Parts: sequence; structure tokens; C-alpha cells
Amino acid sequence: MWKGRFSQATADLVQQYGESISYDWRLYPHDVAGSIAHARAQVKAGILSEDEFSQIESGLKEIEKDISEGNFEFSIELEDIHMNIEAELTKRIGAAGAKLHTARSRNDQVATDTRLYCRTAIDQLTTLISGLQSALLDRAEKFADTVLPGYTHLQRGQPVTVGHHLLAYVEMLSRDKDRLIDARKRVNISPLGSGALAGSTINLDREMIAAELGFDGVTTNSMDAISDRDYIAEILFSFALVGGHLSRLSEDLILWCSSEFGFATLSDAHTTGSSLMPQKKNPDVCELTRGKTGRLYGNLVSILTAIKGLPLTYNRDLQEDKEPLFDSIDTITMALEVNTEMIAAMEINVEACQEAASDPLLLATDLADWLVKEGIPFRSAHELVGKAVAASYTENTPLDQLDLTKVDPAFKAEANKVFNLQKALAARTNPGAPSIENVTAQIKRWRNNS
Ligand code: ARG
Repeated sequence: MWKGRFSQATADLVQQYGESISYDWRLYPHDVAGSIAHARAQVKAGILSEDEFSQIESGLKEIEKDISEGNFEFSIELEDIHMNIEAELTKRIGAAGAKLHTARSRNDQVATDTRLYCRTAIDQLTTLISGLQSALLDRAEKFADTVLPGYTHLQRGQPVTVGHHLLAYVEMLSRDKDRLIDARKRVNISPLGSGALAGSTINLDREMIAAELGFDGVTTNSMDAISDRDYIAEILFSFALVGGHLSRLSEDLILWCSSEFGFATLSDAHTTGSSLMPQKKNPDVCELTRGKTGRLYGNLVSILTAIKGLPLTYNRDLQEDKEPLFDSIDTITMALEVNTEMIAAMEINVEACQEAASDPLLLATDLADWLVKEGIPFRSAHELVGKAVAASYTENTPLDQLDLTKVDPAFKAEANKVFNLQKALAARTNPGAPSIENVTAQIKRWRNNS
């Protein structure tokens, strides 16, 4: 494509080092759409005839079809998807093909293709996130009133319900979706027409091109448009955080599925056995999700590092944006799909949850709150209940069976009435707290707007 200036062919190693066709081939539908829109603007500008446009359009559509059917041979001598398609077009239709690159550079072309690719990915991934949210909502609804301990420091804290616990993940995923929808606004701007870095002396109708490609507008500084990869960093951050959330969910499920907790059972279809230990049923999907989150973080760091030292405008370093981007999209897509299936098939072991939740220590804070309602300052109440807990350990008697009045006369006989899980949950009515009514209302709200 640049033979005019060179007297030596590109070295083989340089070709292998610099090719991107082995991974950027997947931009092809966007590359074709971008080229057709670009050619249409060339007709409007009077540099391409209607007839030439038709040849370009049908030639590109045939190439697109051939690629999608696996009947296209990519060549690494042509480096990337842009040159592979353009060279093939010219081979197929001749002179008209050679006009296509007028007023365009691979720099604005690759930025356009990548933005379109990101837009499609955002739209698919927000749908997948909604799918996982609804699988979680189904489980949350089924086990809305199943009480289990809530933990801090992985030590039993206070009672919650399975519904409330799972809804926490629905919240996280909702923020993830919002972040992607917000990033989409910055993704969906057309850089096409920015040329190599300084536009072109041949002025094509950029708005028309943008509208045809479904962009919301055009970029307003050609130098920024060529070098901007912020949108990639933003969505890689969003994917990293989705991964972080799925990884936390995974960790909860790994614990819940252990014999020690026993709160949940994953289906046989979503677990694996051991080649050695016949009894094993392992939560590999959860572990893989937790493990793959590292890649999502790594990909974010790759793009941030690639852009940090670049002078304006295009530098070849920017070609390194695509593998992390594609890898994160592939990883998060599968993670969402498999987790949705796995959650939909997950069973909660109500009895094990109830057994764990019957630990009276979960209501130690409620007991302190009872003293507060009797007029005792919280700090003193905390200390009195702390003494009661210590007595329960030394006397080897569960807190709810202890004669609290012996620990301190501030406890009256009615203090023991605190040890009622249903009442304890029912009292937690403040917004966001886990009363069953609240949880049910939240499930309804999510059903209407997730
Ligand atoms: N394959 C290149 C990339 O992904 C396309 C742009 C190449 N531009 C250039 N000036 N060499 O970044």
C-alpha cells in the first residue's frame, strides 16, 4: 500500500510482529459499513460516480458475506482488516476500489470500526447483565424469607434473608449497566473524516456518514479523534468491575456450597468432579470467574499503560488496544452467560440456612437495641451485652437461654423476647434494611425496571 517510497520489501519478522489481521478480522462488518458510508459521502462530494459507488457497495457486501461464511483468505502482508478488505475490493472491482481511500486514513478508519464494535458489545452486554439480574431476582423471590446469617469479616453478624443477600448483587449489576450505558454516549461519536490526523482537503459530509452509521454526532478535534482511546479504557474499567462483582458472588457461592456452610447447591451441570476423589463436586465455574477477573483487570491496565506516554496523535502502540478489548468482551460475555445459567439452576438449602440463622448471637445487637429503648446509652448497652455474651461462653449456655437478669439487672425478663428471628427481621423496616416486606418491594421494583 505504500510501495512508492520504499525500495525494499517489509522484512518477514516485521510483518509477523506488526500484523493485526489475526485478531482485528472481527471488525469486518463495521469496516464494511464504514466504507459504504464513506463512499456514499464521496458521491455527494462529486469524487465518485453513482456507478462506482454501486460497484464498491456490492463488492464490499460480497466480501462481508465471504468473510462471514469463512470463504476469505486473510493475508498478513496486508497487516490488518482495513487493508485486507480494501485490497480485495480493488482486486475484485478494479479502478473504483482504488478510489475508496480518498479523504480517509486507517487512523480514522480503525477508530471508527472500534467504536462501532464497542457500541455493539455494550448493547449485547447490557442485555446479558439484565439476564443475570433476572436470574438473581428469581432466586431472591423464591427465597425472599429464608433467613441466614449476614457476615462481616466472615464472622456471623446479623440476620438477613437469602433474598436480601442476592439483591445486593442485583444492585451492583445495575450500577454496572448504568456505567456502560453512560460510556456508550462517549463511544457513539464518529471520528470518520479526521483523516490521518488533520482532516482532509477533500471535505466529505461527516454528519451524513455519522448518521448512516448510527452515531449520535461527530468528533470535534481531528487530533483528539485519532488518538482517543478513552472509551476503550472506560469500558474496560466497566467490564473489570462487572468481573469484580461476579468474583465476589463466586466467592459467596464457593463458601455457601462448602460442607462447612452448606447453604446452597449448584446443579451437576454447573459443577465438576475430581479425577481422583470420587466424592467431590467442585464449584469450578465460580473459581474460573474469580480467576478470569484477573484478566479483566490486566486488560484495563494494558490499555491505560499503552496510552499514557503517547505524543499526539496516532502511534502504532495504539494497535495494542484491540487484544485486551476483545479478550475482555469475550471473557465477560461468557462469564455472564454461564453465571446466569448457574444461578437459575442453583438451589438454596433452607434448613441449613435456618440452622445457621438460629444462632442467638446474631441478635446480640438487637439485645443492645432493646436496652437502648429502655433508656440505656448505646455504649453502656454494648458493654452489658458484651458481658452477657462472655457469660454465655463461660457458662456454655446459649445467649437466649441465659438468665440475663443475673448478668445485669438492667435486663428485665422481657429482654429474652428479643430472641425471635421473625420479629428481628420485621423490625428492620428502614429503606434498604432486610425486612421481608422491604425485600419483596425491592424485588417488585427491580422486576419493573431492570
Ligand atoms: N492496524 C492499525 C491499528 O490497529 C490500523 C491503523 C494503522 N495506522 C498506521 N498509521 N499504521 O492501529
